[in-house]
Order: sequence, then C-alpha cells, then structure tokens
Amino acid sequence: MHHLTKFAWASAVLPYPSSCSHEFLTLVLSMVEQRLSQMNSPGAHSLLWSLWAVGHPISVGTAFTKWLRLNVDLSNMSTVVDVLLMDAEWQRSIDESFWLCLLIPASRTGSPQKVIAKWSRMAELPNWVVQSSEPWDLSKVERNRPELAKYLQRFSALQKWVQPTSSNHWDKLSALIDFVDVRLKWGIPEFPATPLQLLSLLDTFAQSREHWLKVAGGAKAEVLEHAFGSRKWKDFEIALECGTFVGYTATRLAVQMWRKGAGTINARVMTIEVDPVQACIARHFLDLAGLARAVEVAIGQVKDVVPRVIDDFGARSLGFIFMDYKGSIFHSDLQLLEHLGALAVDGMEVADNVALPGAPLLLWHLAFGPSWTLVAYAMVEFFEPNTEDWMALGKYTGPAGDAPPAPASWERLSWHTDHMRRRACGLRPTEGDMFEEDRVVYSRHIRRHFTAAGIEAQPWVGPSDLDFEEEHS
Ligand SMILES: C[S@@+](CC[C@H](N)C(=O)[O-])C[C@H]1O[C@@H](n2cnc3c(N)ncnc32)[C@H](O)[C@@H]1O
Repeated sequence: MHHLTKFAWASAVLPYPSSCSHEFLTLVLSMVEQRLSQMNSPGAHSLLWSLWAVGHPISVGTAFTKWLRLNVDLSNMSTVVDVLLMDAEWQRSIDESFWLCLLIPASRTGSPQKVIAKWSRMAELPNWVVQSSEPWDLSKVERNRPELAKYLQRFSALQKWVQPTSSNHWDKLSALIDFVDVRLKWGIPEFPATPLQLLSLLDTFAQSREHWLKVAGGAKAEVLEHAFGSRKWKDFEIALECGTFVGYTATRLAVQMWRKGAGTINARVMTIEVDPVQACIARHFLDLAGLARAVEVAIGQVKDVVPRVIDDFGARSLGFIFMDYKGSIFHSDLQLLEHLGALAVDGMEVADNVALPGAPLLLWHLAFGPSWTLVAYAMVEFFEPNTEDWMALGKYTGPAGDAPPAPASWERLSWHTDHMRRRACGLRPTEGDMFEEDRVVYSRHIRRHFTAAGIEAQPWVGPSDLDFEEEHS
C-alpha cells in the first residue's frame, strides 16, 4: 500500500503526459479499493492529492466518499481533509461543511471542536461513517501519524491530535480561543477598533513563553506595515498572506487595507493555511473582529491555492504578498505567481525567517533576479535578544526573466534549513531540541553565506525608517 501511494504521487509530480498518469491512477485506485483496510492517513493524502493534481476525472470527493462507504475507518484517514477542502473551495462546492465536520472527531475536544462546528454549520457525521472509538495505541500511531511513532516517549497520554513539536500545541490554541472569546467586545464590531483589540489580545496572550505564538509581531509587524505603506494601492489590488496560523497578520493586513482604501472594507485580503483546524480558528477570530467579508481564508498548500488569485481577482492584482510558512519553498511559490502573471508591477513581497531557519533560495532570487529589487532588514527574535533573523522585502519591477541558478552550496543550504525546521519541530529527537544558543549559531551560519554573496541586511530601526524608494535612489 505504501509503495502504491508513493508511485501515485510520483506519477503526479513527474512530467508524464496526463493521459498516462490518469490511466495509472485509475489502476492504483482500483488496487487500493481492494486493500482499503491497509490504507493509512499519509497514503490516502498522497493518493487524493495526486488525483487532484493531475485533474483526474474521478474527483477527490467522490473517491473519498466511496472509501467511507466501503467502511474505511475515518480515524485512519482524517489527515486527508485539507485536500478535500482545498478541492471543494476551488469548485465552490456545497460539500465544504460536510468535509469540515469530518475534522471534529480527530480534533481536540472543547473550543477547537466548537469552532469547527461553527464553520461546518453543525453538519453531523452520517451514521454510515465508521470511526473507531478505541483509544490510540502504537498501531494507530504508526498508521495515522507515522512521523510520531518514534517520539512516543514524549507523550504521557496519547491523543489523536498531539504534535511532535509541542505536546501542548492544541491545548494552547484551545486556551487562546477561550481567552479571546471572553474578552473581545461583544456586539457589532467597530472598525478599526475591534480588529485592533483582537491584535492586542493576541499580543497579550503570546507574551509568555508558555503561550508563545508563531506570529509576525513586534518589529516584524512594523516591517510589514512599512512595506505595505510603501506603495500606492489601486482599488482592485489585493494582499496575500501565505501561512495564516490563527489570523494575526491577516487581521493586521485587513486594517492596513482599510487605511489605504479610505475606510471601505472590501474582500481584499486572502490568506492561505494548510491546516484546516487552524484555518477554522482564524476564520472564527476574523469573524469576531468583523473581518469575515474583508479576509478570505483559503485552505490548502500555497502552491495549490495561489492560482485562485488569478481566478478570483484577475491578472496583476497582487499588490502585496507576505510569505510566512516554509522558507525552502518560498522561491518556487513566488516564481509560480510570477509565471501566472498575478503580481502587480511595483508589488511588494515580504518574507519572514529568511536567516532563521532561512530562505536562501528566495533571497538569491530577489537579490539576483532581474525582476526584483531587494532590501533586507535584520532584527532580533522576540524574547531572544542574541538571535538575529532577517525579513526580505522584494519590489517586483515587472517580468524580466529568471535569476541565474543559485550555486549548489546554496541549494544544499536550503535543504539543510528544512532539516533545522524539522529539528525545531521535534522531528529529530536524536539531535535534541533547538535551544537559544543553537539558533544563534545557526542564524550566523546562514548569514555567512548571504554576506559572502554580497547580500547585507540593514538593522530595522523602527517605523520611521527610510522608505523603499529613497533606499534605491
Ligand atoms: C508562522 S505560521 C504563520 C503566522 C502568520 N503569518 C501570522 O503572522 O499571523 C506558519 C503557518 O503556515 C502554515 N503552513 C505551513 N506550510 C504551509 C503550506 N505549504 N501552505 C499553506 N500553509 C502552510 C502552518 O500550518 C502555520 O500555520
């Protein structure tokens, strides 16, 4: 089964003619259906994504519903829901609430489940959907979350939603929902007071190590606002955030857009999140802040969702893009947007975590690509005054071709940043956790490559900093 689903994935990503991959995937589907009891969550995810990626005539929703009808255990498949939702959003399908309700059994009890129920409009799991109520044991973990199996000793009680990163991830998000729900002013949201109150609540919650949230706050928020304000906005242009998490920066972008749009709230911010439960939390907060009609939270991987920018808003509509997810793929997703013709000429790109864990290939693309002008800012990490990170600001000067290929050493460096990302997520237990001193050393290592190529960052000194135009005049 494992090999079948890997082959299916390979047939979707390798450049085969689509007729070959369609035939091959039809064959894999029929073989899989005869062995459904052996299916696991990652395999199901690969296979459904492959069907979607090649535009197979059997839709992912039809295939998955058939598996459920064949009595596959939902608790062995729950991680496929992001593909089902991404497909449903592309198709504007009415099945979205049904797919959302599949998330409930595998999510943390309490507030996360309530938030999912809100967006699944109380849809209920039909009684023909099988889901085992047995507590999780090693075999369940191996089948559903094989990446967790090696780290079991970290968890005292095994629950379906645990993450290797931090065993308290979902507890923290549950506490965050409760914290915001009881404090955000009730009644009709006022603009911009209620979104600003939401931002301040999220800042307050995050100001303890125990509650730390991976959002672009503090100096990084200042850089974002600076970049946002450094261009003249046209009425039809939108801002895109890649990596939503709980909607913190999406809220900030909506407020900025309101300021630029002379007080009108139009649907001009789009944000993309691969984790459907986090997307539900972000939608909930944005809704409480009165921003549901200003911000579209799309579910899926950035590379699969960004073509919707063209579909929904048109060519050259992207005035601003904030990349805040996995630095080693920023450059390829940005190139996709360039090739699609989505970026406005003079559009701004801002990327976070460029020096820690690092986004070397993006920096190379912005520094040496003929379509970009780069400015990098250096700042220290929240709570870690010795740890330096960079944000990269690129100004798109119009389509002028690709950057020369990055040296092999930069490709290797990019690969290594993923290794560090996995380690920071607890996925390298034999190498131990990342402590502050590891981050200081790693950032220095990454920056040495940048400075050797002649790329320097200027220290971010606050909102009164020079504006982009002046820096290049
Ligand atoms: C650092 S957090 C984003 C924080 C957010 N930008 C803010 O400042 O409020 C990164 C988020 O990206 C999401 N993510 C990771 N890889 C992704 C991908 N390929 N496509 C979409 N989202 C992704 C993660 O699930 C996580 O929620």
